[in-house]
Amino acid sequence: MRSAGAIAAAVLEDVAAWVTPGVTTRAIDEYAAGRIKNYDARSAFLGYHNYPCHICISVNEQVVHGLAGDRRVQYGDIVSLDVGVVYRGFIGDTAYTIAVGGCDVRTQRLLDVTEQALREGIAQAVAGKRVVDISRAVQTFVEQNGFSVVREFVGHGVGRSMHEEPQVPNFVDGKASPRLRPGMTLAIEPMVNAGGPGVRILKDGWTVVTEDGQPSAHFEHSVLVTESEPEILTCRTKTPFKLKVP
Ligand code: MF3
Ligand code: CO
Ligand code: CO
Repeated sequence: MRSAGAIAAAVLEDVAAWVTPGVTTRAIDEYAAGRIKNYDARSAFLGYHNYPCHICISVNEQVVHGLAGDRRVQYGDIVSLDVGVVYRGFIGDTAYTIAVGGCDVRTQRLLDVTEQALREGIAQAVAGKRVVDISRAVQTFVEQNGFSVVREFVGHGVGRSMHEEPQVPNFVDGKASPRLRPGMTLAIEPMVNAGGPGVRILKDGWTVVTEDGQPSAHFEHSVLVTESEPEILTCRTKTPFKLKVP
């Protein structure tokens, strides 16, 4: 899981650094495919329920699961990049949203708040707490800052499969919530809308967009619950490779 996480993080960083005004989302996906291959991994998304791309690229009002195509990203756009890789049978899943060149102040605040909401959630990923403690920390922080969390899509356990139990919602749903134990690996991933929480799916069957057309941001880490501090498996400051696995 550490190796898979480190590869996912390295790919995400490589792709984010490569994005520049004028490139098509298809070119971004092709570049990502090359980076994934570079680390001897494969995309966890390509073919997943017939998903047709290597990574998810979601622009502006697109929330998650955006499809690569002819669209050219422009100065001022925000682009959510979500990378999932399989390496030696294990999965790393991580995402963040970049501003292409720059963006307006409110949108920058959306990115900052979403990233901080992820940190607030990760801080609760401690043995003995419950999944709902993560959910509550994310929701509280986002709503205190005047934005809203998406309900229809949630974080998840991650391991040999991309989506494992338990679900990790970004809001308190009132359902029974599992206790966190050392060794659990979770993908924590706030999806935060600048406007209302509502979303819909485009006719392509994949792309999730905000109902009100306002921008949305997405930050995600795969995290290991330990006896003490949470360990971020997709941490971008980790030396990328190749990790020696016994
Ligand atoms: N990466 C997404 C997640 O974080 C899942 C993408 S599934 C795909 O859970 F099929 F759209 F790729
Ligand atoms: Co993801
Ligand atoms: Co995920």
